[in-house]
Amino acid sequence: LKIAVFASGGGSNFQALAEAVRATNIPAELALLVCDKPAARVVQRAESLGVPTFLFKPKDYPSREAYEQEIVRRLNDEGIELIVLAGYMRLITDVIVKPYYGRMINIHPALLPAFPGVGAVRQALEYGVKLTGVTVHFVDGGMDTGPIVAQRAVEVREGDTEETLAERIHAAEHELLPLAVRWIAEGRVTLTDRKVNVRPGE
Ligand code: GRF
Repeated sequence: LKIAVFASGGGSNFQALAEAVRATNIPAELALLVCDKPAARVVQRAESLGVPTFLFKPKDYPSREAYEQEIVRRLNDEGIELIVLAGYMRLITDVIVKPYYGRMINIHPALLPAFPGVGAVRQALEYGVKLTGVTVHFVDGGMDTGPIVAQRAVEVREGDTEETLAERIHAAEHELLPLAVRWIAEGRVTLTDRKVNVRPGE
């Protein structure tokens, strides 16, 4: 399975996925990084890992649709079969959603549908939930909406700050994202009527 990761920032999930794909027997190849921020740390990570990068500056294009068309061309050229949004800080339009619905996932640092959008870890702390976590879901063009593939719970501890909680959430993400990608790469994930079914592995 040929994968493109879209990321705008640190890229720890990109790294975790790239390492998992290499170190384990996930039948997948991380073939492309798509990034809208030339200075992002994820760009250096891709370089060290030898993953080709498509870097673009949204300002160089007349519209969101225009740069998305360019992205879709690149994805087609590379034969990308799965898109993974891992800290890609932009909304995605139908230009990408239509051709990739059911083949594009996002990772979010909360138990959706709770706390969508930016600052999910802070939102959870401010609300005072005792349990939060991580969600991997198919992307339907809404803000962190779409059929849920996998979730993992993370407990909020007494005295947690945004930093300490985010650290444990990140650790959970680094396990859950490669796992969800494995399920998809192994052909165990089906999407019907907005519900995801995951067939158990051997
Ligand atoms: C992660 O928390 C992810 O859930 C969210 O953005 C963050 C990206 O972190 N969508 P990183 O860039 O992978 O370190």
